[in-house]
Order: sequence, then C-alpha cells, then structure tokens
Amino acid sequence: MTDLVVRRLLIDLETPFDRHWCGGDAFRSALFNALSMSFPVGEQFFIDSVRNGFKALPPEQQQRFKAEVQGFVGQEATHRRVHALFNAHLDKQGLVNDWAPRAQKRLKLLEGADARHWLAITAANEHFTAIFAEWMLQNHDWLDGSEARLKTMWLWHSAEESEHKSTAFDLYQALGGTHEWRITWFRRVTLIFLGDTLRQTINNLRHDGTLWKWRTWKSAASYLFGKRGLVRQSYRPWREYLRPDFHPSQQESDLSRRWLEDNMNAYTPVGA
Ligand SMILES: [Fe+2]
Ligand SMILES: [Fe+2]
Repeated sequence: MTDLVVRRLLIDLETPFDRHWCGGDAFRSALFNALSMSFPVGEQFFIDSVRNGFKALPPEQQQRFKAEVQGFVGQEATHRRVHALFNAHLDKQGLVNDWAPRAQKRLKLLEGADARHWLAITAANEHFTAIFAEWMLQNHDWLDGSEARLKTMWLWHSAEESEHKSTAFDLYQALGGTHEWRITWFRRVTLIFLGDTLRQTINNLRHDGTLWKWRTWKSAASYLFGKRGLVRQSYRPWREYLRPDFHPSQQESDLSRRWLEDNMNAYTPVGA
C-alpha cells in the first residue's frame, strides 16, 4: 500500500530564465543544471527498472506493489517532462549536455541483465536523490533570490523523491536481491554519479564563462564544504546505506510531507 500521489505542477516553464537563475550564483546554477540534465535519461531508467522488477515478481506479490509502482512511475514521468522543459532553456543558453549521451551509452551495457541489477542501481541512485532532496528541503534558503517558479520546481521534485525513496529498494528486496550486490552497485554508482556531476558542472561553468572566476570557487567551497554544506551534511546519511539492516524509511521525510502540505496551491493531484 502506498500514498504516492502524482501531481501536476502549476508553474510556467515557457518563459526563459536567467543564466544564473539560482540566486545569481554561477556555481549553484551550474550544479543544479548538471543534475537536471541527467534527469530525463536517469529517471526513464528508474521507471524501466521498477516496471521490469514488478513484472518479475510472482503474481501474489504484484498486488502488494501495484499502486506504489504506478505512483512511482507517474511521479518520475512527471519529473522527466518538467525537467525536459527546464533543460530546453539551458540548451538555448548555450550549455551542452554531455552527461545524458554518456549515461545512455553506459545503460546499453545493462541490456539483458537481471532485473535485480537494474533495481540495485536504481535504489542506489534513489538514495542519492533522497539525501539531496532532504538536504535541499532543509536548506531551501540556498534557493533564495531565485524565481519562485524555479524554487517550487526544485522543492516539489525534492519532496516527491523523498516520498518514493523506498520503492526500488523494496522491489529489490522482494526479488531476493542480496546485500553484497546492493553494496557493490552502491559503490559503483557513487563513483559514477559524483564523477558525472563534477564533469557536467565544470562543463556548464566553462560554457558559461565562469569556470575561472574566484567567486565561483568561493561559492563552491561554502556550498559543498561549509558548515551547512552538501558534502559535509550528506556523508553520514550516505554511509548509512552500507548497513545490512538499512532501509530508506529510516531516514527523515518530515520536511517532504510538510512542504507538500504547505504548498498545495502549487500543484493539482492527478487522477484524485
Ligand atoms: Fe525524480
Ligand atoms: Fe526518484
């Protein structure tokens, strides 16, 4: 049973936005843009993994997951669509998405692999997204000075990531996925995800002409390694995943619930 609701976001994504849309900050804009560039390909893979995993379940177990899988697919499909609209503006700004084709090439290698491998990769990525989401909701003031519609987009996505963070993990376990493989993929995904994020962020800054500006590096240092920095605050929750008894629901999602309650005017539930 699940409460995963698919929501249509009521924001304008037609009007272009500033290159340094994230509060005028070149580094943060470049980093978030990099993540957004990975979403359409990445989230399609998550959808496929979860669908394939669901099909591989014995029929008596499918009933238990049916509504949750539908909710998951609906949420990720909506994220893909919204971020594709966002990314179209990045193209027009002259940024070049190298991450998506690289990811697509790599995913080709997984064709024909057991559904549990796909799910282990998805669950690992979803752990990253859930940590990032929770951190984002907690430190939403980093988005201050951004247009309200863009702030809403990032916080809505964060809230839903936190909501559906257990789906791939639970399917993996229901299919008898082992702890060893879960950890093996988690380590690989960590290296690949961090490497790709870094490469695309640098690529974005280069195209933006801000890579070698002192301000960019200063912002990167405080955003990543400062007291409330992303790396500093995420290491612990990242490491939790290595525990044999880890489950995504053990990590906070209060902020997600609260954001969804407080921002009901920002979306309409679909099919409700
Ligand atoms: Fe998503
Ligand atoms: Fe997700």
